[in-house]
Amino acid sequence: MSLRLLPLLLLAAFGLAIAGELNYPLDAPAPDGRRPGGTLSQTLPAPVLGNEENKDLRRERNYPEQPPTIPHSIRGYQVDANGNKCLTCHSRAGSARSQAPMISITHYMDRDGQPLAAVSPRRYFCTQCHVTQQEVKPLVGNNFRNIDHLLEDEAAATAKP
Ligand code: HEC
Ligand code: HEC
Repeated sequence: MSLRLLPLLLLAAFGLAIAGELNYPLDAPAPDGRRPGGTLSQTLPAPVLGNEENKDLRRERNYPEQPPTIPHSIRGYQVDANGNKCLTCHSRAGSARSQAPMISITHYMDRDGQPLAAVSPRRYFCTQCHVTQQEVKPLVGNNFRNIDHLLEDEAAATAKP
């Protein structure tokens, strides 16, 4: 055997030794919450997809900078290099025809805040930021309180003698 292979061989032996040490508890229960039941090594069938909420009612935002959630179904809407279905309704020109809210000025700005003539590439893939909602039970709890509630709390606290 050529000596040149020796380092490789040593490395392989070392790797095998480490791999042999690994001992996953394959029947450990899966972390509860997001993963339904089973053990770490089991694969259960994925739950069915929930229905997209399609009420056509704009939702309250939790803070002014929040990208509003999409209140309508977007199933089958194509957004790729060849076209952007969202913009047929939401672009400056399209919103007059569709009566959909026009994308705001921030969608026309480059990263230095300079307004551009057309939709900025960084705002082209709408679902990076805007998401539909599903009619399902939330997976995790949430005790977020918006600024109105926080201000009320503060006012109530200072009003106390
Ligand atoms: C056929 C026209 C049409 C298309 C296509 C469309 N929308 Fe809409 N969209 C609307 C209308 C109309 C509203 C106003 C609320 C309603 O009627 O659902 C709206 C509302 C919204 C809102 C809520 C705005 C707010 O202020 O709350 C978002 C976000 C949105 N759409 C994103 C999208 C995205 C992302 C796509 C593409 C995946 C898309 N829309 C495709 C017509 C459209
Ligand atoms: C990088 C994130 C991002 C992307 C990508 C993006 N948006 Fe937005 N969008 C926002 C944010 C943040 C707001 C709320 C604040 C604002 O107007 O900038 C918003 C607001 C909106 C509104 C409400 C405007 C208003 O005046 O009430 C509509 C409608 C909308 N977006 C549609 C779209 C559509 C359609 C696309 C794809 C062409 C898109 N957005 C891409 C982040 C994004």
